[in-house]
Amino acid sequence: MSDLESRLRSLPAFPHPLPVLHEAELPADPDVLFREWLDAAISGTERQPHAMAFASLQADGTPVVRTLILKDIDADGYHFSTHRTSRKGGELAADPRCSMLFFWREFGRQVRVTGTAVALADVVSQRDWSERPSYTGSPNSDWQRYALRPDTFEFMQAREDRQHTRIEYVRAGSDWQHAAVRTPAG
Ligand SMILES: Cc1cc2nc3c(=O)[nH]c(=O)nc-3n(C[C@H](O)[C@H](O)[C@H](O)COP(=O)(O)O)c2cc1C
Repeated sequence: MSDLESRLRSLPAFPHPLPVLHEAELPADPDVLFREWLDAAISGTERQPHAMAFASLQADGTPVVRTLILKDIDADGYHFSTHRTSRKGGELAADPRCSMLFFWREFGRQVRVTGTAVALADVVSQRDWSERPSYTGSPNSDWQRYALRPDTFEFMQAREDRQHTRIEYVRAGSDWQHAAVRTPAG
């Protein structure tokens, strides 16, 4: 075993004790569970509980990922902001399919939110721009607030016995269906 491999192997994957996700008590609406977990992360010691990995697709289908900040959640979806002319802005204009991954270490929790991005109104984008710490008073027509409208969620609660609990929510018209995911989870 290489030195790096043994150092990596010695690192704990999850903290303990870990919370338990009870399948019998799941809400019908995944936003409810997401907000509950986000609130817990905000109230805890996570330094950037609103940061997530955001994946989009290049023109040839190659997935690419980077860190973004969650700005809000409402009926439009899960909000994020960026420059329209950024690489991800171009990718989303060509193919709006995208995915967010939140990882809250302290709780051994991960949530994947997958769907399509829609560009929100200019007034929303400019308000967002004006609230940035670096705002100097000038509007920025390149700045864009988007919302990811989710089609699926996967919530994972790690367990000390590694029989991690994973729950998938799939949009079904105006409702959601959820079920435990039984494939291996590592
Ligand atoms: C903690 C953190 C938060 C970030 N938040 C944002 C964000 O909200 N919006 C943004 O455009 N870039 C954000 N970035 C920078 C992006 O990760 C990325 O480097 C940049 O947007 C260019 O991405 P692209 O070339 O794939 O379009 C953040 C980076 C870090 C490390």
